[in-house]
Amino acid sequence: MVYKAQAPGKLIICGEHAVVYGQPALAAAVNLYTTAVLTPAKTGFKLDVKTDIPVGSGMGSSASVSAASAMALLKLLQAKPSKELLNQIVYELEKGVHGTPSGIDNTTVVYGGFIKFQKADRVFNFNKLNLKKALPEFILINSGRPKETTKEMVTMVRDNLKRNAPIIEQIGEVAGKFISNFEKGRFNPELVRRNQRLLEKLRVVGKKAQEIVHQIEKAGGVAKICGAGGIKQGSGILLAYHPQIKKIKTLAQKNNWKYFYAELGVGGGE
Ligand code: PMV
Repeated sequence: MVYKAQAPGKLIICGEHAVVYGQPALAAAVNLYTTAVLTPAKTGFKLDVKTDIPVGSGMGSSASVSAASAMALLKLLQAKPSKELLNQIVYELEKGVHGTPSGIDNTTVVYGGFIKFQKADRVFNFNKLNLKKALPEFILINSGRPKETTKEMVTMVRDNLKRNAPIIEQIGEVAGKFISNFEKGRFNPELVRRNQRLLEKLRVVGKKAQEIVHQIEKAGGVAKICGAGGIKQGSGILLAYHPQIKKIKTLAQKNNWKYFYAELGVGGGE
């Protein structure tokens, strides 16, 4: 008997970093998956874990690996945990990896869909939103794997909290507007541009990613990082939009940027 489980990746549509400090954010589960296969053995069990998610690149690879592994183990134990319990387990595992995560990554990969998230003290306040209609077509561009871990990026922001506090508040305002627009079925690309500018001000976006974003903006589009970012090398995956999405594809091909499409709002871990 083998026990299988899978969990999706995630990306943050708006509000990363600020979400750690209680500001609102919106994330989507993405159709890149981690699969965990657990086989009982005489001396315990063997766990094989494979993931399609670019590791350490802002797409929630660690939360996804934790969610799929925990699910497989729970299946072996014949436990049928609620999503709430699974979310708590994955959050505890995320704390081990990231130190002080907001909880948005684990919540998104466990519940799936589009998650409006806000942390108040130790409580996760979140709603699943139905955004499929308001959602434009995005393209994802890989600006390179960050040299820094999520923990390091979050710590860097925290170490300069006096300087960063007003920027964090502004990100929260932009994210709040973005989400309420989205809930009314409207997508405002200008808010993506503003979110990205604020993340650059927060110093979590490296030169290479800034250059890619700049070129996309020059061509009439917008783009932003979708996780913790990175400054020494790459900044992970960029979420990019253009009213004529082919223009970004052409730009990516011309510049040799790695790009791909993904479905947003897929189901959570199971
Ligand atoms: O880069 P990722 O997938 O680990 O996303 C991190 C998101 C942050 O807002 C930077 C941290 C957090 O815990 O919310």
